[in-house]
Amino acid sequence: MKYEKEFAKALQSHIPEEVEWSTILQAIEKPKYAEHGDLAFPCFPLAKIKKTSPSIIASNMSKQLQSPLFEKVEAVGGYINVFLNKNTLANDVIGEILTKKNEYGNLTIGEQETVTIDFSSPNIAKPFSMGHLRSTVIGNSLAHLYTKIGYRTVRINHLGDWGTQFGKLIAAYKHWGDEEKVKANPIKELLSLYVKFHEEAETNLQLEQEGREWFKKLEDGNKEALTLWEWFQEESLKEFSRIYELMSISFDSYAGEAFYNDKMEHVVQLLEKKQLLIGSDSAQIVSLENEGLPPCLIKKADGATLYATRDLAAALYRHNTYKFQQSVYVVGNEQSLHFKQIKLVLEKMGYSWANDLIHVPFGMMLKEGKKMSTRKGKVVLLEEVLHNSINMALQMIELKNPNLKNKRDVAKKIGVGAIIFHDLKNDRMNDIEFSLEDMIKFEGETGPYVQYTNARAYSILRKAHAQDEVNQCSIMITCSTEWNIVTQLRLFPTIIKRAVHNHDPSQIAKYVIDLSQAFNKYYAEVKILEETNGKHSRLAIVQAVHIVLEEGLRLLGIEAPREI
Ligand code: ARG
Repeated sequence: MKYEKEFAKALQSHIPEEVEWSTILQAIEKPKYAEHGDLAFPCFPLAKIKKTSPSIIASNMSKQLQSPLFEKVEAVGGYINVFLNKNTLANDVIGEILTKKNEYGNLTIGEQETVTIDFSSPNIAKPFSMGHLRSTVIGNSLAHLYTKIGYRTVRINHLGDWGTQFGKLIAAYKHWGDEEKVKANPIKELLSLYVKFHEEAETNLQLEQEGREWFKKLEDGNKEALTLWEWFQEESLKEFSRIYELMSISFDSYAGEAFYNDKMEHVVQLLEKKQLLIGSDSAQIVSLENEGLPPCLIKKADGATLYATRDLAAALYRHNTYKFQQSVYVVGNEQSLHFKQIKLVLEKMGYSWANDLIHVPFGMMLKEGKKMSTRKGKVVLLEEVLHNSINMALQMIELKNPNLKNKRDVAKKIGVGAIIFHDLKNDRMNDIEFSLEDMIKFEGETGPYVQYTNARAYSILRKAHAQDEVNQCSIMITCSTEWNIVTQLRLFPTIIKRAVHNHDPSQIAKYVIDLSQAFNKYYAEVKILEETNGKHSRLAIVQAVHIVLEEGLRLLGIEAPREI
């Protein structure tokens, strides 16, 4: 921002006072084409105030703007274009990166305030599907990003471990379950019981009722129901932990839906006290008619609580426990209505912090254009996908670099990175078609491509053995590819800020692709290790690229092996 600010400062003395500083700063843009310089200010809005044509304003003002940071100032068709002083800027940016290392881009926006991030949150007794992958990787990256800009983050896995589906599962187990079979292959077996329940329920109307009764028993603490539930939960957690470990993802809290069992009565009482609870024949609800939304269901006629009740209890608990400034929920866009309702109910209860709840929605993972449905058994198992991807990475290493040390470990980092990157490079709201082939491609705009680029940069540095001297040398920009890299590197903190602001890790993913492409072009065009004057300057740039790529990948939740 330093250069934008310098430009804005220079502009300000020539712009009427009524135009605010922040307006000037925000208007500054990056020209599309390099021949238009590094920064541009459009004079069109000023034309109205000054009642002169934009090109005359641009041409007059450009003659008066001066700064040691500017190499040249030009007026072109209503824009003021600034060409920055390349060597000054390069020394600034590269110097900062080499000093701060992986702390480059750290910001203090969060001021140590707390943000809770509810993400991943898979459902017990069901396989960890590709659908949950999205929440897991977006949430994990957002947690890294929030920490990077100075927030204290609390990572919460709101496990789906309570609800009517467990009544159904217990009913199914009682009908068709085989203890030995479940023990041998818990998740797959439980899934087929769940699928069978829904198939049978289409003709046997009694089943749904049985399911409801079992859930009621569970809520009332019936011993048989609880023992089965605990067993299902234990087996599921084992599977989930294996997956999180593979992906190097951790949580600060696993307080799932069941955690709030003893905290819901309090919510119901509060709602009653505030006269928000309306009893209807089939349920107790909070009406949201005035807001034009369907009512929020709090309790069923048989007293059973609901998903929303548990989320209300969770919001209150989190606010009391963590004193959050923001409470983020990374959950698919099919739950948008649910989160709107939760916010509105909390608002009605008089909690102004309801506004700090942020639902970060995302599109679906589709298979052949359709939503994957656990009920119908149409799921792709994440663990299988991860292992396939790791195996493909291993085959590729065997082909390209069979003597590599720690082959398995590197393959794990690449295979898992490929899956994460494939998800995060998409705009969050887009649906993604599941395709294993696409995910595991190692060229084009992929995670492995960025990982390779980083390893390439690192190998140059290893060859040069020159890290020590690099820190002190002065940078000279000698070609446009080099300049392109430096301008990219300068943008990193801005991109981080934007990614958090929009809750959108894809901005980081696109950024590391751009930087990798810029670097690979440089690598192809320039003899970096040639014994000429500029060698140390070139190595400093390579070192900076390596630092930023590694940090960018880390923010996405992807590990960066230094040798591939
Ligand atoms: N378990 C839910 C699901 O798979 C997601 C839970 C999201 N978090 C929450 N606080 N509601 O759909």
